[in-house]
Amino acid sequence: MSDTSDSGESDRALPNILITGTPGTGKTSLAEISAQATRLTHIDVSALVKENSLHSGYDEEFDTLVLDDDKLVDELEEKVSQGGKIVDFHSCEVFPERWFDLVLVLRTDNTILYDRLVERGYNQNKITENIDCEIFQVVLEEARESYPEEIVVELQSNSVEDMESNLSRIQQWSQLEGLALAHKKRWE
Ligand SMILES: Nc1ncnc2c1ncn2[C@@H]1O[C@H](COP(=O)(O)OP(=O)(O)OP(=O)(O)O)[C@@H](O)[C@H]1O
Ligand SMILES: [Mg+2]
Repeated sequence: MSDTSDSGESDRALPNILITGTPGTGKTSLAEISAQATRLTHIDVSALVKENSLHSGYDEEFDTLVLDDDKLVDELEEKVSQGGKIVDFHSCEVFPERWFDLVLVLRTDNTILYDRLVERGYNQNKITENIDCEIFQVVLEEARESYPEEIVVELQSNSVEDMESNLSRIQQWSQLEGLALAHKKRWE
């Protein structure tokens, strides 16, 4: 069966993870080390949007590119349907529900996040927008509305210790999920 329906059925041999969260919470850092430690491949969606012009222009006020949702989904569909991907992006409602087996939402304390965004040289508008986004749990709510409750997991991402424990959870989960998918395929 092909993985094109919205039923949640999938024939992928390896699972897909979405790592999402407010900008600066550590998605790319965690996705990179997780890809090195598992058989999964990292897709940095922000980088892909820039490289392949998957946007409709530039928003000066918020110093950001305006995403073209359709182009993005078309670009990712084939890659993600194969399975074995860690997709890293600050938004999640644009992706089809059937793509992911696990959705991790990274959370960072405001003061820590503020320092990270200042260090990046973001303008004040962009810093305020992102801190508000974290305070109001915008991405967590979006994930809860877009994916089944049982696959959405909130993870703290304040420290190196948090990153290590998040990595170890991803390693354990991907091994178990990989085995479960292989087992399911064998009996189909
Ligand atoms: N758990 C953590 N503990 C301490 N520092 C961290 C942690 N996670 C990320 N960082 C640091 O925070 C900064 C932002 O991390 P990163 O670029 O991974 O965030 P991001 O969520 O991918 O942001 P964006 O959405 O803008 O791509 C980096 O300097 C990174 O080293
Ligand atoms: Mg990133």
